[in-house]
Amino acid sequence: MRVFLASIPLEAAKIVIVGAGEPALAKLRLFLNTPAEVAWFAPDGAPDRIETPLTAPTPLLRAPEAEDLAGARLVFIALGDLDQARRIGVLARAAGAQVNVVDQPALSDFQTPALIDRDEVVVGVATGGSAPILARDIRTAIEGVLPAGLAHVARLARELRDTVKASTPDFMARRRFWEKAFRGPAATLAAEGRTAEARREMLRLLNLAAPEQGVVHIVGAGPGDPELLTLKALRVLQDADVIIHDRLVPEAVLERARRDAKRLYVGKARGDHSVPQDQIEALMIAEARAGHRVVRLKGGDPFVFGRGGEELEAMRAAGVPVFVVPGVTAALACAASAGIPLTHRDHAQAVTFVTAQAKPGGVEADWSRLAGPNHTLAIYMGTDRAEETAARLMAAGRSGATPAAVVENGGRPDERVLTGRLNELGAMVRGANLTGPALLFVGETAAFSATQAHLSEAAA
Ligand SMILES: C[S@@+](CC[C@H](N)C(=O)[O-])C[C@H]1O[C@@H](n2cnc3c(N)ncnc32)[C@H](O)[C@@H]1O
Repeated sequence: MRVFLASIPLEAAKIVIVGAGEPALAKLRLFLNTPAEVAWFAPDGAPDRIETPLTAPTPLLRAPEAEDLAGARLVFIALGDLDQARRIGVLARAAGAQVNVVDQPALSDFQTPALIDRDEVVVGVATGGSAPILARDIRTAIEGVLPAGLAHVARLARELRDTVKASTPDFMARRRFWEKAFRGPAATLAAEGRTAEARREMLRLLNLAAPEQGVVHIVGAGPGDPELLTLKALRVLQDADVIIHDRLVPEAVLERARRDAKRLYVGKARGDHSVPQDQIEALMIAEARAGHRVVRLKGGDPFVFGRGGEELEAMRAAGVPVFVVPGVTAALACAASAGIPLTHRDHAQAVTFVTAQAKPGGVEADWSRLAGPNHTLAIYMGTDRAEETAARLMAAGRSGATPAAVVENGGRPDERVLTGRLNELGAMVRGANLTGPALLFVGETAAFSATQAHLSEAAA
């Protein structure tokens, strides 16, 4: 180890920043909204008003004197004039402070690590000043796997520390308790800000007779491009013990999951229900009750024609802690890569996500109410009934000349975009020999895809 990272409590610590340029402002931003007392000096001129954070203290337009530095813990100096920086450094050290002259390791007592700030939890990456950009990249990689609400978890742990110590005096047993608590639903609930439930769960866990309890995340995998997973989806995938996934989730997405996670395929092709819905739900419950972190991974968004609502209800009824992580739904992904704006100030004041398939005996979409102009329709599961849907829309008054598009495998390397008119939608679908999932667009905005066709071709 060539450098040592120590942590300094900021409660009532005096921090002095000297300078008015971007490097000084970057240091200032670090300490605003912390319990530190911040003093700001700008001997080299007033800072730019637009760049200055609203909550910044008013800078004094002079160099700090010895009495300004009295009691300072850290002094950051970001001045072009290195002689002046040296002089201020001497005064600061005489006052007992540690000094950092920005970008001047030889004049500094310490370097600032690349920091991940989660309030109570702070992660620092240091390279001793030799490769700050590398440190920043490492920080970005770590940032993605840490829940935003980590501070809530740490706060709850602090609140319960004495209770846990009293009920579990043995050190090793206590360690096992915390390991379980931080990996289990209590930590997940706390990170989501559901503090009361998290507290209950931690206390339940303290009663060692309590059975193991897992957690279920119903996760939207997006359209199939792993880069369209949300940070949260990626994090829970990498943490999952069991992944229960659908047909629409390709290998490229599954590859981002923890290597040793158990994978269960419950995909359904229409008319070929490989695993019935109630069995999928029973499987999710059984895996969670076995103490596993379960990810139910679904194509697109779980709540858009994804039966995520039914699964959420089933988990709640079973008393299994459950969370929903949204995903990029097919309409958004297809629209983006085909260059079809879903709304447009001149051409579409509304967009409707609609399915052309109803459950057997269920209610069908009312196409007559969706036939108005200046309205984009994104039709899911529409290929089998494209001709019939187009006929219904035209019968209800939508012009046969309305632009239409078919996007197959949207957002994936093998994406295809076909464009035409509403009155030829059936023929377009028939002639396309579709093999992947496809979405239909109807509306004035679908015409925009023609101007963008080269983009999707380039992507393929
Ligand atoms: C059961 S729905 C699931 C929708 C999913 N929950 C979502 O939010 O995208 C399946 C339909 O979504 C559409 N779909 C899903 N992924 C697609 C993709 N990558 N490209 C085009 N359409 C897609 C197709 O219309 C497909 O028949």
